Amino acid sequence: MNILFMGPPGAGKGTQAERIVDTFGVPHISTGDAFRLAMKQGTPLGLKAKEYVDQGLLVPDEITNGIVKERLEQEDCNKGFLLDGFPRTLQQAEALDGMLKELGRSIDHVINLKVDRSLLLARLTGRRICKSCGSTYHVLFNPPKQEGVCDKCGGELYQRSDDTEEKVGTRLDEYISKTAPLLNYYSEKGLLREVDGEKEIDTVTADIESYLRGSL
Ligand code: AP5
Ligand code: ZN
Repeated sequence: MNILFMGPPGAGKGTQAERIVDTFGVPHISTGDAFRLAMKQGTPLGLKAKEYVDQGLLVPDEITNGIVKERLEQEDCNKGFLLDGFPRTLQQAEALDGMLKELGRSIDHVINLKVDRSLLLARLTGRRICKSCGSTYHVLFNPPKQEGVCDKCGGELYQRSDDTEEKVGTRLDEYISKTAPLLNYYSEKGLLREVDGEKEIDTVTADIESYLRGSL
């Protein structure tokens, strides 16, 4: 199954993707995670991406498209994939269509997690992530059993550099001007599935699973 997750920053894409890939056994491809890893390793890609990510701006299309193309060509994507945070511009969506056409594949579902802007700031500024395994928590909405420590692996939790109030504002503006128009693009193709992302985390997972299972 070939799935895209869309929604504004903080809508719960990463949280839900962690769960859905476990259930459906497809690889999780997050462009945000790919950029953060490259930034941590200090690679040329990481240094370039940092100029944009640290400001809350989108990384240019040609850089982002190249990463996704390379990843989709890997063998484990033959069984399907879950793309999280890509595409984010019309140009990326068209590039993705081209990549999939070349591979003889197509998108099955575009899941849009709907969350009101007023909730997103609290979600993002309270988010904590495990340094070792990447699991996501929230200090209030999804706290770990022990403060600052990952339940799954005991790793240390940290806060993303772009989860400050100022950067979140820029990220939301980028989403509204460049990414939100894609909802129409996928709706016209009959692929868009709207999910209420304001419900409890477990309920959102169940709602997404029922969409995906309905098509199995
Ligand atoms: P990326 O890493 O993709 O960030 P994002 O889209 O801003 O999304 P987030 O990861 O912030 O949010 P999420 O929806 O995954 O929410 P989460 O599940 O963590 O991108 C980062 C940067 O990389 C971009 O700004 C850009 O610079 C660059 N980039 C990436 N892709 C790009 C592309 N295609 N083109 C160009 N540039 C690109 O949840 C948030 C918090 O809420 C967590 O604490 C969680 O525990 C909590 N939470 C989740 N669900 C619920 C719920 N139902 N109820 C209560 N709390 C909840
Ligand atoms: Zn961990």
